[in-house]
Amino acid sequence: MKKIVIAIDGHSSCGKSTMAKDLAKEVGYIYVDTGAMYRSVTLFALRNNMFDNHGNIMADLLESRMQEINISFILDKETGRPETYLNGKNVEHEIRKMEVSGRVSQVAALGFVRKALVEQQQRMGKDKGIVMDGRDIGTTVFPDAELKIFVTASADVRAQRRYEELKAKGDDADYNEILENVRQRDYIDSHREVSPLRKADDAIELDNSNMTIAEQRKWLMDRFKERT
Ligand code: C5P
Repeated sequence: MKKIVIAIDGHSSCGKSTMAKDLAKEVGYIYVDTGAMYRSVTLFALRNNMFDNHGNIMADLLESRMQEINISFILDKETGRPETYLNGKNVEHEIRKMEVSGRVSQVAALGFVRKALVEQQQRMGKDKGIVMDGRDIGTTVFPDAELKIFVTASADVRAQRRYEELKAKGDDADYNEILENVRQRDYIDSHREVSPLRKADDAIELDNSNMTIAEQRKWLMDRFKERT
């Protein structure tokens, strides 16, 4: 069967990664969560005190140390799912916390950060057989992807899902703070100068506000079968 590239983009917390992960597992493709990469750079910046007193990223400082950032994904032995490693340490849990979520969009708006991560993403997908999720996969990383999906859902539904996810992991979660964060990231992500979040012209749009995970899984599998 021919191998393809699948690009899944969309708004924050709309369940893209669950859909993408499930499909990759089912069809034996590599799964790459590009949001985890931007989150890892943000965590590196936080750990190295690269935000000023107003919470703004000190871009020059980060740029001078980009070479020190090494992001990789390693399959977890128990779940079989890829987990994110920053300089050899598992950061999968830490990068999902609100402290990172609240700052990641300003880091992701920096051109030099995007350039470095996009290059790494393109290398990961050069042999195809990959499902990648993010904001600019169908528009910038793989404009020739054979299957492009643009996922969205109402902000309330997305905040509720993220709230439940954080609670399930035992993390502190405040619904209103999450809703505000989801809205703010949507705004910054779609208004930045470099590769803003937008639906690629040839992407299929999916509003999954009222769909179960099983329904989404089937819908995506059907789209995959049409292309392979
Ligand atoms: O997908 P996730 O919500 O974890 O992504 C976190 C943030 O990383 C997004 O809000 C966005 O600012 C940034 N991002 C991006 N481009 C991507 C993936 C994520 O700018 N391809």
